[in-house]
Amino acid sequence: MKRRHFIKKAGITGMAIPMIPGTLSAATFSEEQKSFAGPVCIATWNFHEASKKAGELLKTGSSALDAVQEGVMVEESNVANTTVGIGGTPDREGNVTLDACIMAPDGNAGSVAYLQNIEHPVAVARKVMEDTPHVMLVGEGALNFALQNGFEKQDLLNDKTRAAYKEWLEEKKYQPIINIENHDTIGMVCMDKNGDIAGACTTSGLAYKMQGRVGDSPIIGAGLFIDNKIGGAAATGMGEEIIKNVCSFLAVELMRQGKSPKEACKQAVERVIERNPGYMDFQVAVIALNKNGETGGYAIHDGFSYMVNAEGKNENVKSGFYKG
Ligand code: GLY
Repeated sequence: MKRRHFIKKAGITGMAIPMIPGTLSAATFSEEQKSFAGPVCIATWNFHEASKKAGELLKTGSSALDAVQEGVMVEESNVANTTVGIGGTPDREGNVTLDACIMAPDGNAGSVAYLQNIEHPVAVARKVMEDTPHVMLVGEGALNFALQNGFEKQDLLNDKTRAAYKEWLEEKKYQPIINIENHDTIGMVCMDKNGDIAGACTTSGLAYKMQGRVGDSPIIGAGLFIDNKIGGAAATGMGEEIIKNVCSFLAVELMRQGKSPKEACKQAVERVIERNPGYMDFQVAVIALNKNGETGGYAIHDGFSYMVNAEGKNENVKSGFYKG
């Protein structure tokens, strides 16, 4: 199947929005919330435990870099989450392939893509950042690098995802359903006690994607971007659209021009909408945090929310959106 056709087909039934209906808690942080004093964590979707972990680390003085890594690792280890790390939904060949990246306050970055059999791709990405002259390792090279660095090989499928894959094989339909947990990503941006900002992003990508497909999550500027002078942003949703519009970089650049995080996310999402008339068929969402501790998010469709951990609270905030 040709790439464009595949992506269009993927969009026909709508991009999956991994909200489990009924799990959105009442937000106590308003969308217009102004600067948070002290450390702040923002993360995509309703990954409460991940932002809680990052918030706890930040509170005890951890660096933003450690907090984002440890925070997203919570979801990489969550077998119930079929969109990130272990328990992730496989590709069309039945292989779970993981994409992740991390970016430090000094602008350094590391990334892995199409990595198999390793539970914590974000930790491998950090090793790439810190121990190699490169930014990105993929596939077998990334796996060999991980094994050489003490990461253990393991089966990322489980009985549930294996059974679901078997069922999918009967029709081989690419059919994500809106508001059923089918695909998505944790992107997280944290500011620590020193005011330094770091980010991380990790995913198993689209469910039943083509073999070799890599999304936006490991692409610096697309799934994640940090500029410690300005702030950071992360994206989630249809990776192809996020890559084509370099959404996270765009949101940070808009903040550089003086936009609030919410306005920057809105304009980044509107750029996707302007450039693709098929936007009703997929979801893209962007979250951002600026140097003043302000947070924001915006999505094409209703159903997106994000976590904010600050001032001792860990809350899910309903995002602004373009179309219901
Ligand atoms: N946003 C994650 C992906 O498309 O793979």
